[in-house]
Amino acid sequence: MSTSLIFAATPTAWSDTVSSKDRHRTGLLPESLVSRLASSYADLPRDPHMRSGDDYRYRAFAQGSVINGRIEWESEATFEQAADINAYAGGQKRSFAPIRSDVLRDVVEVVDHLREDVIGVESDALIGAHQIRVIAGDGVTGLPAPEGVHQDGFDIVATCVIGLTNVSGGVTTLTTDAAGQHVVAQESLGAREYAAFDDRALFHYVSPVNALVPGQTHRDVLVLTFTLI
Ligand SMILES: [Fe+2]
Repeated sequence: MSTSLIFAATPTAWSDTVSSKDRHRTGLLPESLVSRLASSYADLPRDPHMRSGDDYRYRAFAQGSVINGRIEWESEATFEQAADINAYAGGQKRSFAPIRSDVLRDVVEVVDHLREDVIGVESDALIGAHQIRVIAGDGVTGLPAPEGVHQDGFDIVATCVIGLTNVSGGVTTLTTDAAGQHVVAQESLGAREYAAFDDRALFHYVSPVNALVPGQTHRDVLVLTFTLI
């Protein structure tokens, strides 16, 4: 497993000499791709691993690999993070509903965009894909990052915003420290925008989501994780 970012082939994002604070970038995904993905979020089941009373998150998950430019998904996938990485839900094997096979075809397109723009098309990697909807409103605040300022334990993490409905908040902050003091980027990402960053060098946080005006509120994201191999 790679523990540092070394792009031997196509250093499209940041090379070894780029300092920690600059190891992030934003980009824009194609409208047609995002609108196809957006329609699938209404069907997501509730995240079964939230603590009692935290009913604001829905999700599906897939994991696979890209080797020699070919993406393969595993038939069954469980997700596990160490407790010291994720104080909210780490230290347990979490299984989620699988991402639908028709949706996975669109996820592959997003992965390909990130490989072109950030990862490097010749880099092999293990991939995690998380479709996540956070809802709010009717007295509910949705927390996109209930664990607070954190790292996820991968080489690169990309948060792609697929849809925003009536959202106030949900601001993504990148910092160089676990306390969240040294901010290097703060983005209110709009639909179609992604933020990709070096998850070994930077910490991230997303602020709570509330309803802008009374009514249905959701923030739909596709989080992609990459471990270079
Ligand atoms: Fe995260």
